[in-house]
Amino acid sequence: MASLPKMPTSRDKLSAARTATINPFEYGRELEPDELADRVEIVAKVADTMLHGRKLFLIGPRRFGKTSVIRAAELKAISDGACVLRYDASAFPTITDLAARLAADAATAFAGSLAGAADRIVKTATEMFGRLQPSVTIRPDGSVSITLGMDITTGVSARVVPLLSDVLDGVERGAKKLGRPVAVVLDEFQDVVERGGVEAEAQIRAAVQRHKNVGYVFAGSKTRLMIDMTSAGRPFYNLGDREFLGPVPRADLARTLGAGFDRGTIPVEEGALDEIMNLAEDVPYTVQLLARACWDTCRASVSIGSTPATLTRKLVDNVHKRVVREQDPYFSSAWESLTPPQRTALVALLQNNGERLTSSAVARQYRTSVSTLQSAFDALRSRGVVRDDSVDGVTRLRVDDPMFGAWISRFVGK
Ligand SMILES: Nc1ncnc2c1ncn2[C@@H]1O[C@H](COP(=O)(O)OP(=O)(O)OP(=O)(O)O)[C@@H](O)[C@H]1O
Ligand SMILES: [Mg+2]
Repeated sequence: MASLPKMPTSRDKLSAARTATINPFEYGRELEPDELADRVEIVAKVADTMLHGRKLFLIGPRRFGKTSVIRAAELKAISDGACVLRYDASAFPTITDLAARLAADAATAFAGSLAGAADRIVKTATEMFGRLQPSVTIRPDGSVSITLGMDITTGVSARVVPLLSDVLDGVERGAKKLGRPVAVVLDEFQDVVERGGVEAEAQIRAAVQRHKNVGYVFAGSKTRLMIDMTSAGRPFYNLGDREFLGPVPRADLARTLGAGFDRGTIPVEEGALDEIMNLAEDVPYTVQLLARACWDTCRASVSIGSTPATLTRKLVDNVHKRVVREQDPYFSSAWESLTPPQRTALVALLQNNGERLTSSAVARQYRTSVSTLQSAFDALRSRGVVRDDSVDGVTRLRVDDPMFGAWISRFVGK
């Protein structure tokens, strides 16, 4: 028998009203899998790498969603039985600290959680990292740390990078015995190579290429550096697959945005969502930031009894101006930290749409030389202020943070 559509109860209405007051747009944290727009294929590929002992370099500009993709893949891999050891390399003061954390986590995870865990952790750490004379500390709260000492086979105090590759060798030994998939994820991997130098690349490659029981995901946001380090002639060449994380396709992002405004019962004018994506230059973080501010602005009138304001293009533009202005203290100090040639280079970039910037015509226009512009852009690139953006074989330079670009265009020299 066909059932009649259910009438909403007062409880349903209350819960819908409550949902409508919670801003669905979030920025600055790794998203949960169900919050991600698109990214289905790349999440599956990263999970597959983790589950099948493969190696993958995940390369994408800052704030494009690398960590969120890794997080979603990690959850999938864990639910399929994997043990995932994931680190943000930039969060560790030294590579030695990273190596020690990885060793402690691997020993703890591989020891299992049976009774007598402390003894098992010490035993597992000794089996995996014995060569490195691990000294294990288990605190009353159960947290484990390991100090790595000498390489007793050589009697030489372990040096930084060999230490990390030796720990990875230990993880491989442990994974072989464990009988379930193990993955190591090093996010912001370029930090390891920048700090450890060419020696780091060679040592890590030497270790990782022999490993069959551990999947590796190396993620990084300094795209040029990551591309260079995985190119022909460098140790990481052909060590694993390379995947580039580009912008989220607009149709998917628009769907996510539309659903969010819908939840807030906010009417959306044609073209307003595109305006958000244009002003945010399709950077997912900035899209969410701007959408969040717009959502709050549209809903601000609701508390005094009216319906939410419509999301119009004009409202988006005004909110964007306000958000840029609100970040003035931060952008001012970022601007002041730049050298005069770097400031000139940024203005030239914005006024020339990021194209043909090191031509003599541009140099003449800004009363400088091509080589000065070139080195200013190199410095800005390595400081993460600008990035290369390649679409269909054409490379343009962009200001990494679109809000900073907007601030410069609006306030500098005016
Ligand atoms: N697929 C997506 N759909 C919607 N929003 C996204 C998506 N991916 C990322 N974002 C937005 O971008 C923000 C940053 O994501 P995330 O931290 O994963 O990026 P990241 O590339 O690791 O950044 P960073 O380079 O700073 O480490 C998220 O908090 C979210 O607001
Ligand atoms: Mg990240």
